[in-house]
Amino acid sequence: MLDPRVSIIGERLKNVNRVIAVSSGKGGVGKSLVASTLALMLADEKFKVGLFDLDFTSPSTHIILGVKEIKPVEEKGIIPVQVHGLKYMSIVAYSREEALPLRGADVSNALIELFAVTKWDCLDFLVLDMPPGITDATLDLVKFVKKIEFLIVTTPSPIAFETVKKFSRLLADLDIPVLGVVENMKMKDSLVKRQVSALGLSFLGEIPFDPKVEECLGDVNALLATGFSKKLAEAISGVLT
Ligand SMILES: Nc1ncnc2c1ncn2[C@@H]1O[C@H](COP(=O)(O)OP(=O)(O)OP(=O)(O)O)[C@@H](O)[C@H]1O
Ligand SMILES: [Mg+2]
Repeated sequence: MLDPRVSIIGERLKNVNRVIAVSSGKGGVGKSLVASTLALMLADEKFKVGLFDLDFTSPSTHIILGVKEIKPVEEKGIIPVQVHGLKYMSIVAYSREEALPLRGADVSNALIELFAVTKWDCLDFLVLDMPPGITDATLDLVKFVKKIEFLIVTTPSPIAFETVKKFSRLLADLDIPVLGVVENMKMKDSLVKRQVSALGLSFLGEIPFDPKVEECLGDVNALLATGFSKKLAEAISGVLT
């Protein structure tokens, strides 16, 4: 039977031009930092941008953006809050500082539900900060969000890159577009660029490990002035701007 939420989500996203899911096979590679900075940079370019934190286990974009309180208005659905020129939504609006006591299928259901009720209205870009790995959430999203495109983040470590191979093969099997791969926290020469090309994917660019990033968390202007942001801007120019 067709899940009715497929058409509701389709309806909710009908005025959203592009949905960019910032993902990785492995945790801790910098997805949340990339997703938040990307959304801020696109908003700076005067695009209409939404940022949706879909990491129910360890949501972090509110920390990066320095958002203390998220109080979305309910009006036949949920209206995202406005922060730093972005429309913003995170499960933190409901879970606050507590862990969410949800298991497997419940996480997936909650995520789809949140997607179905959130009213983004008109957007040029909706950036999704995804949970790490290929989870139920990932598989559900590709089914429900028809216009999804993936931006994959990896580190130079073979441990992280190994998961990129699996992730990209799965997306190819499902016929889901991949914008390309960003290599983050680079400290020395690596094989990632060559390996990404060998997978038939676009290598978008490399971002060095930037020790200044940590002290900029919560201060978006300082974050946008870092070497991290400069390199990310280079990586996405041509594919998103
Ligand atoms: N290029 C970089 N230079 C320095 N620190 C970085 C860089 N990229 C990310 N970080 C730091 O690495 C840590 C992990 O980043 P982040 O939380 O964005 O990863 P993640 O992939 O979203 O993790 P998770 O899988 O848990 O969601 C953070 O403390 C972040 O500030
Ligand atoms: Mg994260």
